[in-house]
Amino acid sequence: MGASKKRLTEGSVLSDDRPHVKTTPITEDRTYKIHCGDCLEIMRSMPDNCIDLIVTSPPYADARTHTYGGISPDDYVDWFKERAEEMYRILKPTGSFVLNIKEKAVEGERHTYVLDLILSMKREVGFRWVEEYIWHKTTAAPGKWKYRFRDAWERIIHFSKTSSVKMNQDAVKVPIGNWTEARLKNMSKNDRERRNSGTRSGIGRKISAWEGKKRVYPSNVLHKSPVAHNTGHSAPFPDWLPDFFIKLFTDEGDIVLDPFSGSGTTFRVAAQLGRTPIGIEINPEYIKGNSLLAL
Ligand SMILES: C[S@@+](CC[C@H](N)C(=O)[O-])C[C@H]1O[C@@H](n2cnc3c(N)ncnc32)[C@H](O)[C@@H]1O
Repeated sequence: MGASKKRLTEGSVLSDDRPHVKTTPITEDRTYKIHCGDCLEIMRSMPDNCIDLIVTSPPYADARTHTYGGISPDDYVDWFKERAEEMYRILKPTGSFVLNIKEKAVEGERHTYVLDLILSMKREVGFRWVEEYIWHKTTAAPGKWKYRFRDAWERIIHFSKTSSVKMNQDAVKVPIGNWTEARLKNMSKNDRERRNSGTRSGIGRKISAWEGKKRVYPSNVLHKSPVAHNTGHSAPFPDWLPDFFIKLFTDEGDIVLDPFSGSGTTFRVAAQLGRTPIGIEINPEYIKGNSLLAL
């Protein structure tokens, strides 16, 4: 394994910056492993408050029945909710849950199961709906449907358990971009002061804040390619996706779980970043995939 493996001995307590909240250790034999089975059962066997980050992409309802099965859109929220309750239980109070999903179209319109799921996660499971990132797929495949154009974006939803979330914003800064050069060269007096919107919306901006900066915080629209390692899986993550959120929400040694791990991209990237990975995948064929061998 290329990663520096942080040893967790039985009985050791993982750090948490909210000392009044009891976090629970997870035994070492659970980590650095892709467990084969239904994530519902495997998460049920894990202690409370033991995971720093969950990054995952579950089946998009029954969009890929021909490869790894699926769940009918009408049953999706109930199916996901019982798994989400386990995710909530095992996530540390400072932890984050990053969910990549997109609703499929059924009979010529978008199904509402993702919208229903967000509401259920918040109102029934208890997660906070912190943010929604849009993944703009810069190289989306060609296509056109009767009432829609090609699908070039997916949701990446950030949920948390509490308002004290671990977040390393400096770890994911991006190059400032060429467009700013011309804009910053031609700044008016107004650009040098914080200007509040004339509509009294409370929104303000100060263009000169970016002067002299080479790297800045990204926006919540991630312009990224879907290109992924060829692992034999029909829907693998591109490496940048777990990489971005693992750097953003964890420190070295922290525990990263992907409960629908497929070919193990999250697992591999987490290990490469020196985090402690755990995967769960129901299909044993995917566990034999290349990404584990590549560690
Ligand atoms: C969208 S794919 C994930 C792909 C993954 N992000 C990767 O990089 O390869 C969803 C995966 O969830 C698995 N799966 C479906 N139901 C599951 C369950 N109940 N428990 C665990 N895994 C499940 C499927 O076999 C499939 O590999």
